[in-house]
Amino acid sequence: MEWGMKNRFSRIMNAQSGNCVMLAVDHGYFQGPTTGLENLGKTVEPLLPYADALMITRGALRNWIPAEMNKPIVLRVSGGQSILKELSNEIITTSIEDAIRINASAITCSVFVGSENEKETIGNLARIVNEGETYGIPVLAVTAVGKEMVRDARYLGLACRICVEMGAHMVKTYYCQDFPKIVKACGNIPVVIAGGKKIEEKAALEMAYNAIQDGAAGVDMGRNVFQSDNPVGMMKAVQAIVHEKATVAKALKIYKPSAK
Ligand code: R5P
Repeated sequence: MEWGMKNRFSRIMNAQSGNCVMLAVDHGYFQGPTTGLENLGKTVEPLLPYADALMITRGALRNWIPAEMNKPIVLRVSGGQSILKELSNEIITTSIEDAIRINASAITCSVFVGSENEKETIGNLARIVNEGETYGIPVLAVTAVGKEMVRDARYLGLACRICVEMGAHMVKTYYCQDFPKIVKACGNIPVVIAGGKKIEEKAALEMAYNAIQDGAAGVDMGRNVFQSDNPVGMMKAVQAIVHEKATVAKALKIYKPSAK
């Protein structure tokens, strides 16, 4: 890895654990004012101290996040569709020049393997990897967000491996049974998990714990943090799992000291 890319990458990954707790707040790019993100700045501010990086769009960043903030930005640069239409119909929305202007530590786009626009979204990833390699900016590929896809190790492994072969420097996917197969399919490329739809806190922490045990390099969670009844508690609990390999029981106590 070239020096600049290595430097940006090391801002995202925690130096001690080698893992990462990324806070995803990019949901509005396809689903509008998501519950919990209506006033994005107010939601994010208390959570930031516990995040290693923030995944966000340029519009949300400029609107709601003060430039004095010092956390690395993982900038979503794809979009062009909404939940009302075919999700895979994405284009690259943000130029590499704007990503540099924003001082992004990484750029990211979605890849919809097996969807209507598979070729275009794989092409989007290849394009931003080319741009990232030119300017030393790592690329996070987000896979398997297509709603109709089966989330098993066979499919997710296929999707993740394609992203790795296209040159992604980091991959984000869902946790599933046989997750180690996905990690193996990605070789040296770190795999982080998305949280998915809001579930019960205990189940979300179990998922994060199992993912770390199975070789994930961290989480890129959104709704299971900011839609929780105690978002700061959830961030701290997830952080303990990802960086300190805390048990679910310990994490639950961190999330809510009164929880069983
Ligand atoms: C997916 O396309 C986006 O990056 C999502 O905003 C992200 O995956 C959401 O994280 P979560 O599923 O944990 O809310």
